[in-house]
Amino acid sequence: MSFKNNDLKGLQIEFKEALGPRFSLSEIRLFWRESLRHFFGITPSDLMLSQDRIFSPDESTLLFQLVNRLNLGEPFQYLIGEIEFYGLPLKVDQRALIPRPETEELVDWIVNGHHLEVSNILDICSGSGCISLALSHHFQKANVLGVEYSKEALELSEENSMALKLPVNFIEGDVLEETSFNNLLKEQVNKNGAFDIVVSNPPYIPIQDKAKMESNVLDYEPELALFVPDEDPLLFYRKISESIFPFLSTNGALYFECHYLYVEEVRELLVQMGYQHVEKRQDLQGKWRMLKAQKS
Ligand SMILES: C[S@@+](CC[C@H](N)C(=O)[O-])C[C@H]1O[C@@H](n2cnc3c(N)ncnc32)[C@H](O)[C@@H]1O
Repeated sequence: MSFKNNDLKGLQIEFKEALGPRFSLSEIRLFWRESLRHFFGITPSDLMLSQDRIFSPDESTLLFQLVNRLNLGEPFQYLIGEIEFYGLPLKVDQRALIPRPETEELVDWIVNGHHLEVSNILDICSGSGCISLALSHHFQKANVLGVEYSKEALELSEENSMALKLPVNFIEGDVLEETSFNNLLKEQVNKNGAFDIVVSNPPYIPIQDKAKMESNVLDYEPELALFVPDEDPLLFYRKISESIFPFLSTNGALYFECHYLYVEEVRELLVQMGYQHVEKRQDLQGKWRMLKAQKS
């Protein structure tokens, strides 16, 4: 089975019709634009000149298969295997969560809030490596460390680091295992000095929210990256802010991405723990999603 047309215009119409029942027009436009760029090297600026382009049966089958898999719920980013994150091309697959636009906003907050001389940066729960790699690209003199529990995610982040030639040190660690995590932090701080910037986008969705979530997230993205126990939604925020406090430099800052429903509770937690200048921020959708706290 494939599409009936073999010219760009005709294929575009069939592509749109096939995805119409499941996706919005803006999603379909994005899928079309990015598929042409990714599979055939046709950029948006080439598009006007490519209207008469004829697609081979294999090329048309490729698009047809993509449409079928999208209709079955596979995330587009996993199907094309890459995304752009804060200007960096990153490989993405089912080994790690797909980086989200609000995480780019968190990176932007950090980038705009610190001078380039920052020495030590730690990204806890580093997943695909998106945050650490973006920070390493910006703060070129800094030692950047990413800590992650999942071996698969670690592997992907290392592949990204090699492909981008960005020297992030990704290591395996469990932030919920207090003793081993503290030892890991001690060892790193003894080697390079205290952390100037610590950032984390930890798992933060209560398990009870599963019922409200889209199947393309539940069926394809790693559970370990998403969920926390219903009875303790602040688990990661508490563990991270407790463990990291002694290892932050005097002017050090801790940044979190948060569930919008818990941002106020996390803010209070940070204040109770003795953090100073605790600030929260909204994302571009107007949801309170990010926090910054300083040691002094
Ligand atoms: C929400 S994802 C964020 C990934 C990436 N930083 C991003 O922004 O796209 C959370 C990450 O935490 C990792 N994780 C879950 N439990 C962990 C633990 N106990 N210790 C360290 N990392 C953990 C997951 O494997 C996942 O990669």
